[in-house]
Amino acid sequence: MGYKVAIVGATGNVGREMLNILEERGFPADEVVALASRRSQGTEVSFGDKTLKVKSLDTYDFAGTDICLMSAGGAVAKEWAPKIAAKGCVVIDNSSAFRYDQDVPLIVPEVNADAITGFTKRNIIANPNCSTAQLVVALKPLHDHAKILRVVVSTYQSVSGAGKDGMDELFQQSRAVFVADPTVNKKFTKRIAFNVIPHIDVFMEDGSTKEEWKVMAETKKMLDPKIKVTCTAVRVPVFIGHSEAVNIEFERPISAEEAKAILREAPGCLVIDKHEDGGYITPIETAGEDATYISRIREDQTLENGLNIWVVADNLRKGAALNAIQIAELLVNRKLIGAKKAA
Ligand SMILES: NC(=O)c1ccc[n+]([C@@H]2O[C@H](COP(=O)([O-])OP(=O)(O)OC[C@H]3O[C@@H](n4cnc5c(N)ncnc54)[C@H](OP(=O)(O)O)[C@@H]3O)[C@@H](O)[C@H]2O)c1
Repeated sequence: MGYKVAIVGATGNVGREMLNILEERGFPADEVVALASRRSQGTEVSFGDKTLKVKSLDTYDFAGTDICLMSAGGAVAKEWAPKIAAKGCVVIDNSSAFRYDQDVPLIVPEVNADAITGFTKRNIIANPNCSTAQLVVALKPLHDHAKILRVVVSTYQSVSGAGKDGMDELFQQSRAVFVADPTVNKKFTKRIAFNVIPHIDVFMEDGSTKEEWKVMAETKKMLDPKIKVTCTAVRVPVFIGHSEAVNIEFERPISAEEAKAILREAPGCLVIDKHEDGGYITPIETAGEDATYISRIREDQTLENGLNIWVVADNLRKGAALNAIQIAELLVNRKLIGAKKAA
């Protein structure tokens, strides 16, 4: 007998991708329930060849639901995740609401799958920030080989990372530029069409942004607290796919050839690295794909044990929906939860 799975935020960018991935991967669900705000009650979303009517989160009873995949932002998660968890339903949350809590595991299955057992403390598991998820998938196998001391990462993040409103804003502004209409900035602080913005999330006291802080804090929590991480996070006019230019300093020597061989074998990684025109990955090619792609692997001549790499992934998949469903698969495959109806 299969599981009963609820998706909170089923009308959003990440929620819709969750529905696609549950179907694609044949997740053992007997029943999938689509939930969103009251505004969306009664609207329809696709699940394989079926159509699901969206229900309101406010009035849904989670008793009897095994897993809740949540992607409705931090405020909704803070209010609802503890209540849902108290009904015996395991919450896998995409927001940053619980990521830094010591008693909530933050999981990327290719990196720290064993930490999942800690979920029993609160019945909540956190999914990382989209830019961190792809970064740690690439760093983990290299860290295991030569021990990473410091990482300098510059991100080039697509507008879908800011939800469906972010995608609409890039579309509307691009159209407005072409027909010489005025552009309107609502979701982003400056025009995003034909521009880049070095600001994602709120500013922190030290002048960095919360997005940059998240990359640092989450990498430390999942990979190794001793690794030093510094980040500049930039929004770019790309619809789907986050890119990262990553400079890594290791404790021990590691050649570009060694790194390439390690990454070729690493779970979740796909190396595309030919030193010729087009012999590298760009975000548009990763949309709809599951892998974390790595290109431009080369030694940094200015560091004793340094490498540069280029990392790209579909932020709605590995950065959010796919990773959440891989976590749900871990729960099932390791028999950490049983279907309520079977009990
Ligand atoms: N996009 C990414 O790359 C990414 C990556 C990692 C994590 N995340 C996180 O995932 C979450 C969702 O992102 P998204 O890109 O899918 O955003 P989105 O496209 O704006 O969708 C937001 C979803 O949340 C629902 N929602 C909003 N308020 C609600 C409420 N009060 N009760 C129930 N549902 C409510 C919306 O329902 P309505 O349609 O009814 O408003 C919609 O389904 C955010 O926490 C984000 O930080 C996103």
